[in-house]
Amino acid sequence: MKQQRHPGAGGFPALMGVVVACAGLLFGPASSHAQMKAADIQKAVDAAYAKYKDSTDGKNADYIPALAKVDSKIYGIALVTPDGKMYTAGDLKSEVSIQSISKVFTLAYVMAQSGPQAILDNMGVDATGQVFNSINAIEQYKGAEMNPLVNPGAITTTSMVKGGDRAEVWKKILDYHSDFAGRTLSVNEEVFKSEAETNQRNQAIAQLMYAYGHIKDKPLEACDIYTEQCAISVNAKDLGVMAATLANGGKNPVSGKQVLDSKLVPDVLAVMATAGMYDDSGKWLYRTGLPAKSGVGGGVIAVSPGKFGIAVISPPLDAAGNSVRAQNAIADISNALGGNPYWSAAK
Ligand code: DON
Repeated sequence: MKQQRHPGAGGFPALMGVVVACAGLLFGPASSHAQMKAADIQKAVDAAYAKYKDSTDGKNADYIPALAKVDSKIYGIALVTPDGKMYTAGDLKSEVSIQSISKVFTLAYVMAQSGPQAILDNMGVDATGQVFNSINAIEQYKGAEMNPLVNPGAITTTSMVKGGDRAEVWKKILDYHSDFAGRTLSVNEEVFKSEAETNQRNQAIAQLMYAYGHIKDKPLEACDIYTEQCAISVNAKDLGVMAATLANGGKNPVSGKQVLDSKLVPDVLAVMATAGMYDDSGKWLYRTGLPAKSGVGGGVIAVSPGKFGIAVISPPLDAAGNSVRAQNAIADISNALGGNPYWSAAK
């Protein structure tokens, strides 16, 4: 059955939009955020940092050889509020490759270029419940009933970026990530090369998505651009600002640039909530209520809309490919600050 995007974004009657906007100003994210005191935020960040600092759970990804060599002690936390204030702990300088977290921003770019219906019409927005590079998940519905945050959907999403040649498409993707971070990002060439030499499974995935008609042209080029996008180098602050841009209606709270139309932010967050932590997305949502996205480089971002964006970097991963310390630290901090968007007080 052909899916229809919900009418809320784009087709919402103007009057209703005004009512909702006014209610939001009075009772919504801004007042929630004001209730979080700076000292409490820093306290929560410091407590989570200390609690998991000596954890040795998890293991660096090693199917991309360069990732096995990354210092597994790197551990940094950055929480950024919509007023651009940053609350941090630990290592803010070390950079890791963004990996699958990039899928969120390329998805946002394609939604901005072609509209969210283009995603629904192509690979869909349903969780697969399977590992992020599952070929079974492709075979089940011939590459449909998928989502842009697992590899088949993500490589397809990258293939949907409109541009001239490879260089132009790549520049658009990198610039867009940089706008979210508020600084010019670059690629970790060692990681890019290492993954490009060992990504035969992703190449097969790209060919299958091409065979089923989801990738229209040049599947191996799409896979290569996707691999380069995964090698973008970021620190905890970069990821914190990127998450906070999503928490702040698509406007980077540090640079002030409106990077993504606020109408599209709920669509991106919905996909993150459904599939951002892969086959553990349900467990994660149950634990925190937060849309989030992990990467095998060790980063995790999470978004409490209107309240904060948070990122933690720590390379050791669990079996689903999600950073162990990052999940624990984000869950503790968000729970301490009332970040779960499903929470409300009884009247
Ligand atoms: O395609 C891959 O396998 C990696 N470049 C990205 C996978 C990833 O980050 C999964 N995340 N938790």
